[in-house]
Amino acid sequence: TRDVINETQTGSLGTTQRLPQSIIIGVRKGGTRALLEMLDIHPQVAVATTEVHFFDWDQNYVKGLEWYQGLMPLSQPHQITVEKTPGYFTSALAPERIRAMNSSIKLLLILRDPIERVISDYTQVYYNRLENHKPVQAIENILVRNGALNTRYKAIQRSLYDVHMHNWLCHFPLEQIHIVDGDTLIQDPLPELQKVERFLSLPPRIVSSNFYFNQTKGFYCIRSDGRERCLHESKGRPHPAVNSTVLQQLRSYFTEHNHNFYRMIKRSFSWH
Ligand code: A3P
Repeated sequence: TRDVINETQTGSLGTTQRLPQSIIIGVRKGGTRALLEMLDIHPQVAVATTEVHFFDWDQNYVKGLEWYQGLMPLSQPHQITVEKTPGYFTSALAPERIRAMNSSIKLLLILRDPIERVISDYTQVYYNRLENHKPVQAIENILVRNGALNTRYKAIQRSLYDVHMHNWLCHFPLEQIHIVDGDTLIQDPLPELQKVERFLSLPPRIVSSNFYFNQTKGFYCIRSDGRERCLHESKGRPHPAVNSTVLQQLRSYFTEHNHNFYRMIKRSFSWH
């Protein structure tokens, strides 16, 4: 068995660190933290709180599965372990590496409108650079070069869901990848969480009173085990306005990719 017996923290027998039975593979800025925290409300779920970057970073992957397992939370036999690393979705090697660990693992992918995701990605990098006293650029100056859309910009590349999904579908059947609608999760989290419970074959335990809308934050927050908490202030930041010409360039660029993606997953979204 790969289970590492660890009784030091709880002292209760049967509590061990287990390899994940489900992974939130991305997408970066899709709402991965919200999904993980909301899933953690479920008593039969144990989550890894930090992003592990095992399957996408070679320097971690070479450390082996025991190292990875050592980063998993303690769990009881009736619980499922979940980790999230948003970088997996856009990693070329993550799909085959995850399949090599467990070919029947259940994958969760949370997506939002690819253009919103680009702007959210830019906003995160913008604030990180400010905090590190690095120079920042206005969004339009990154998105457009010499009048044309800068399609090599990483944030745009990461929003090409069809390109990345193609790689996953070379290694996993579509039924093994549940797509969470990140835009809906923001507006009304419960139905999306209930679909995840069903996908993971968990009994329904997450209820509407687990969520309350926080007017100050402008987002839903979590009420669980007698505690109320919102996500970190870096989640749900205001986005810069993007001028309509640039938005139009983004829309025409993503249209075909989005339609490809809808065909691939046999489902459609109301993205721009
Ligand atoms: P913004 O900060 O751009 O609004 P990730 O955790 O994958 O980085 O995703 C971050 C995004 O999660 C946020 O992007 C926000 O829109 C979204 N989100 C979804 N539900 C949220 C919630 N309840 N509280 C805060 N952010 C939430």
